[in-house]
Amino acid sequence: MERVGLAIIGCGSASPAVSLDNDGLSQVVETSDEWIATRTGIRRRCLADPGYSLAQLGAAAAAKALEMAGVAPEEVDLILLATSTPDDLFGTASVIQARLGATRAVSFDLTAACSGFVFGLVTAAQFIRTGVYRNVVLIGGDILSRWVDWSDRRTCVLFGDGAGAVVIQADPIDRLLGFELHSDGSQNACLNLAYQGESKVLTPDVTIAQGGYRPITMNGQEVYKFAVRKVPEVMEKTFFHAGLDAAEIDWVVMHQANQRILDAVADRLSIPREKVISNLAKYGNTSAASIPLALDEAVRDGRIQPGNKIAMSGFGAGLTWGAAVVQWGK
Ligand code: UT7
Repeated sequence: MERVGLAIIGCGSASPAVSLDNDGLSQVVETSDEWIATRTGIRRRCLADPGYSLAQLGAAAAAKALEMAGVAPEEVDLILLATSTPDDLFGTASVIQARLGATRAVSFDLTAACSGFVFGLVTAAQFIRTGVYRNVVLIGGDILSRWVDWSDRRTCVLFGDGAGAVVIQADPIDRLLGFELHSDGSQNACLNLAYQGESKVLTPDVTIAQGGYRPITMNGQEVYKFAVRKVPEVMEKTFFHAGLDAAEIDWVVMHQANQRILDAVADRLSIPREKVISNLAKYGNTSAASIPLALDEAVRDGRIQPGNKIAMSGFGAGLTWGAAVVQWGK
């Protein structure tokens, strides 16, 4: 098969209409705008009401990305949905496929928590580079409000809901300039949304587990230390793979977990903080959605221009982390 390159030619995003600010959250748990803003930079977050589905958010983001790309739904070959909060554990990507009318596309979910978008980008690239698929829609979307413990002030103030999407197309020139991905399951207990079953005896010889998922638990300080150590490291390695110096990067679009993490990573890499896109004040941590949401805002307001080199980095549960450098547009 002929090896081809790829270009990212469209993006889109969608958020629930309801936004809860820090003062509003102070009515739910003992916290304050001052604490949340100083420790994280977050001011408010969008939250999905019970009528919202992830399929709805993901399809809305994907439709906008297809429109920007000028690609018709019937031309899409593959839909990847990076999420940890599917509407259905069997998968939500195929519901998005139906909503979009992407009748020819194969679709599946991919789970890598807050690294999901970067892992999905690299997965999409493999299908394109091998010549198998031409048009791929990659969506990062999460409705973490479904799984947050709303009595735990250490976690519930951090998260929000949303979706972002990109259209990736085969092209003679390869604009994925470098990437590196990692997992370390030995630190899995730092951040979980874990299954919790209760034993159910079916017959005297057969017992199975039945139940649901526990709310999110996180050791915030451990995850913070992991992020500020591993993200600069994986970004530096990715710059090396891309043959680029940090000074040649136009924009950094990182997972939007905490402004202090964004600043620390920028400082560690000697990249000016103004080059680091940040929108977590408005959205909080939207997990797999955070990178494409931030990317979409920066493309639509004209900061990111065709040809710009963008360093992306995702990190989070697993633990997982990764980075990719892409050149925007054609
Ligand atoms: O998307 C996955 C990636 N996730 C992350 O990157 C998260 C990484 N971690 C962090 O961003 C930070 O660790 C947090 C923002 C989660 C917490 O900030 P911190 O500076 O590490 O605070 P802390 O956990 O050390 O807590 C400091 C104090 C504690 O009080 P004491 O024990 O010192 O008296 C907490 O009980 O702040 C208290 N506290 C709060 N106070 C008011 C914790 N949460 C709150 C709150 N409001 N919401």
